[in-house]
Amino acid sequence: MVDVNGYFKSFLDTLPLLLIVVWLYWTRMVGAPWVPSSLEIANRMLTLANVGPDDVVYDLGCGDGRLVLVAAIKYHARAVGVEIDPLRYLWCQLMVILTGQRKRVRIVLGNIFNKDLSDATVVMCYLLPEALKKLEDKFRQELPPGARIISNKYPFPTLTKVSEDGNAILYKV
Ligand SMILES: C[S@@+](CC[C@H](N)C(=O)[O-])C[C@H]1O[C@@H](n2cnc3c(N)ncnc32)[C@H](O)[C@@H]1O
Repeated sequence: MVDVNGYFKSFLDTLPLLLIVVWLYWTRMVGAPWVPSSLEIANRMLTLANVGPDDVVYDLGCGDGRLVLVAAIKYHARAVGVEIDPLRYLWCQLMVILTGQRKRVRIVLGNIFNKDLSDATVVMCYLLPEALKKLEDKFRQELPPGARIISNKYPFPTLTKVSEDGNAILYKV
């Protein structure tokens, strides 16, 4: 005799864990799962791009908002984070308010492939190679001359590489 109640109870017991895994990884299908950059690599990316007060820094897929917050707090740039996951978006909004960065940092809920990037001077990405490939044409069409692009870990297939420092790779369009 199959113990249906037992199976159902096991399913209910594992459901919370399953939901957490789905929440962390569902964006794998649209660009990348949520894997935050370390603060060391965040600083390396921002330093390599020579970010300063005149910059508008975009983080495409901003996760918990750490890159845009460091760009604003430490490098005094204005920053825009784009995030497709509603819970991570809400978390970012909370962090922007708690750190007092509402004047410098804007968080947008949406898909990076639909966001206009024409006011960006620096674009940061920690995305999977398929997503980087799809972004290249968008960068060529929308980014102003001289814009810097920084990827964490994964290379862009055809953009011109300028330099690299560990996992941080700097490109220009
Ligand atoms: C690898 S994490 C990087 C997070 C952050 N940039 C960092 O370096 O700490 C990728 C993030 O991009 C988001 N993301 C993936 N595809 C996206 C898309 N098409 N539009 C907006 N956000 C996306 C994910 O939800 C996730 O938070």
